[in-house]
Amino acid sequence: MSLKGKHLLCTQDWSLEELTKVLELAVDMKNERWTDKYAKVLDRKTFFMFFYNPSVRTRQSFEAAATELGGHAQFLEPKSMRLKTKKSAGETVEDAAKVMSRYACGIGMRILEDKVGAYGEGQALLEEYAKWSDVPIVSMAHDTFHPCQGLADVQGMWQHLGRENLKGKKLLQVWGHGALARSWCSVQESMLISSRFGMDVTVAYPEGYDLDPKVVEATKKNCEANGQKFEISHDPVESYDGAHVVYSRNWMHADTYHDGEMHKAEEVERAMKLTDWICDEEKMKRTENAFYTHPMPIDRGHEVSDGVASGDRSIIYDVAENRLHVQKAIMALTMGDM
Ligand code: CP
Repeated sequence: MSLKGKHLLCTQDWSLEELTKVLELAVDMKNERWTDKYAKVLDRKTFFMFFYNPSVRTRQSFEAAATELGGHAQFLEPKSMRLKTKKSAGETVEDAAKVMSRYACGIGMRILEDKVGAYGEGQALLEEYAKWSDVPIVSMAHDTFHPCQGLADVQGMWQHLGRENLKGKKLLQVWGHGALARSWCSVQESMLISSRFGMDVTVAYPEGYDLDPKVVEATKKNCEANGQKFEISHDPVESYDGAHVVYSRNWMHADTYHDGEMHKAEEVERAMKLTDWICDEEKMKRTENAFYTHPMPIDRGHEVSDGVASGDRSIIYDVAENRLHVQKAIMALTMGDM
């Protein structure tokens, strides 16, 4: 099975065998990190990282990943290019993608939150780049999905629950209040990939904070295919009952986008009133001694208490580290000579 040249916009687009191949390689790359085994996989190759929004983990881990594979990662921002937009004349995606393909072995793209005017515009932009690019397009988080994060989450659960033990374990994905008004990408990716790998999925959030119905439907189908449970809850406390992994995260209300733009202040006012929605020590007592995870950056004191985020069941830093390993595996398999 070759993954050479394949785009990665969402893990749901890849087969379970392909995702497993990435994860198995990521585990080996972690074990072999300081040997020469993978040190020349991207020899003299350049990966472009095209960021509309800021990042800590994604930029740094992709840059480190390219270095560790013997290549180089180059940072790009739209303000340093002359791209055509709704408001200004400039270069088309077709031309930009075709030219970038002549320089780079792959192109990562991030577009989230206030850089889109309606949910789905980020997905449409990545699809447009994928249509014209001759090298793999990899989502580095866009408004709809965050595949690298989803793979790192599963690698973290393999580490802590055991690779063979995910089936039938309850993953609680619970909304957290806060002032960040985040895109739906990380939580939607986690729903999809966790259900592919056999977990029961409960998504808990306040009334009105519904996610993309197509993603919910796809997650239900993933669960049904393996006889797993899928549940939506609006209870900020009882939803914790029996959980083996708790994943808390803020996400914005669908009404945050209107009139062609994101209205962050309105959403922050709405979300900050919902103070019951925080993952804390009392709620974690209702679980099966669950691990705590979060894609980061964490809004401590809102999405989760310090005690849980820094507690002995927290796996946040392992998952953040896994971003490096899964991205090395993705780059090696889709862009490298393996
Ligand atoms: N989880 C994640 O993508 O982090 P950054 O936004 O810091 O890249």
